Amino acid sequence: MTEQFDAVVVGAGAAGLFCAGQAGQRGIKVLLLDHSEKIAEKVRIAGGGRCNFTNRELDPRGPQKHFLGKNAHFCRSALARYTPADFIALVQKHGIPFHEKHKGQLFGDRSSEDFIRMLVAECDAGGVVRRQPCTVERIDAAEGGYTLRTSQGIVQASQVVIATGGLSIPKIGATDFGYRIARQFGLRVVETRPALVPLTFDGDAWAPFAQLAGLALPVRIETGEKKQRMAFDEDLLFTHRGLSGPAVLQVSSYWREGQPLRIDLAPGVDVAAALLQAKARSRKLIANELASLVPSRLADAWVQQDPAWQRPVNEASDKSLAQLAERLQRWELVPTGSEGYRKAEVTAGGVDTRDLSSQTMESKQPGLYFIGEVVDVTGWLGGYNFQWAWASGFACAEAL
Ligand code: FDA
Repeated sequence: MTEQFDAVVVGAGAAGLFCAGQAGQRGIKVLLLDHSEKIAEKVRIAGGGRCNFTNRELDPRGPQKHFLGKNAHFCRSALARYTPADFIALVQKHGIPFHEKHKGQLFGDRSSEDFIRMLVAECDAGGVVRRQPCTVERIDAAEGGYTLRTSQGIVQASQVVIATGGLSIPKIGATDFGYRIARQFGLRVVETRPALVPLTFDGDAWAPFAQLAGLALPVRIETGEKKQRMAFDEDLLFTHRGLSGPAVLQVSSYWREGQPLRIDLAPGVDVAAALLQAKARSRKLIANELASLVPSRLADAWVQQDPAWQRPVNEASDKSLAQLAERLQRWELVPTGSEGYRKAEVTAGGVDTRDLSSQTMESKQPGLYFIGEVVDVTGWLGGYNFQWAWASGFACAEAL
């Protein structure tokens, strides 16, 4: 016998679990399916296992600052209706201890498991039926709703919510299912690309910097020109293959192939003036003087780039000191690519918001909803992507 539900939510990640729980508690009969054995794997690994679950700095009046997508305003309504304060209240209701780390980022004190338990408890409170591993083989429009053929039988529902996330980290269950379903029903999909991802460089060109792998330092980083220019003040991390750390992850979401990055490796310092002053009073090597301004490993590697920089500071020309400072503070380099979906925290692009209601997340195909990362809404690093998962899940649950 075919089972009947009011709504089937496909994908038991952040958005799907939250939406299912909220909808269930509103009296709707909900089935939540996931093809993976373990649910919410990304919540589990998020924030280094502590889950950066939201960000206090998200301004509901202007949230588009922290989000990108073809229509930056699309996310506004849902984020205003379900705010970080609302989610914090839920976390407090469940007695989960948390703390603020950096720029409004909230993390659990103990482990991400606290948040998974909370999401499951919310589903249980709403009588949500959960099935996993359960694969959805087909979704067809039927009279009064949809028929889903799953690995655990056929189910019918008047509404279907797609919450299958993006393409990042395929080894823990990411698929293109959501985009395929969107296309099947004639919805547009904005081209996807890895975002919040480390950037890589050509092997030979990177060789002088590969020795710096593991070094982290605060920088100012930017990409893009004029109106498209985006800049971040964050920590940069050198890796064997390129650059990572919050600064690069943030800028990577805006970077396009062929574009340069511009990096100030000593933000807030006038390196040229400091070296000229040093020249007047010191006989130390330039690298040693530089080491008072930036980490010594960086200073040592930096002077290797030009023989004119490998001498005592008092023997260097003013011009070569100015050139060193200019290169350090306006380091321009063109990444060859990124580490891809294997390492990306999120997927930019996705179901085109022109085909979705910003009030309910319902698509132009009546009764078919898309929430969370599968939508063309991508948040900055720092808890913004989870807040989008909660807010879009909530908007959808209210409409089911
Ligand atoms: P999510 O990916 O959470 O869930 C999708 C679910 O759908 C999965 O359970 C998957 O198994 C299932 N699924 C996929 N295909 C399916 C199919 N065909 N059939 C059935 N089920 C299917 N964000 C943040 O705000 N703070 C943070 O600290 C972090 N940290 C972080 C670390 C790392 C390493 C990564 C990779 C990502 C983050 N993120 C983050 C991003 C955040 O995890 C992400 O944006 C949300 O989990 C998105 O929530 P969704 O529910 O949309 O997708």
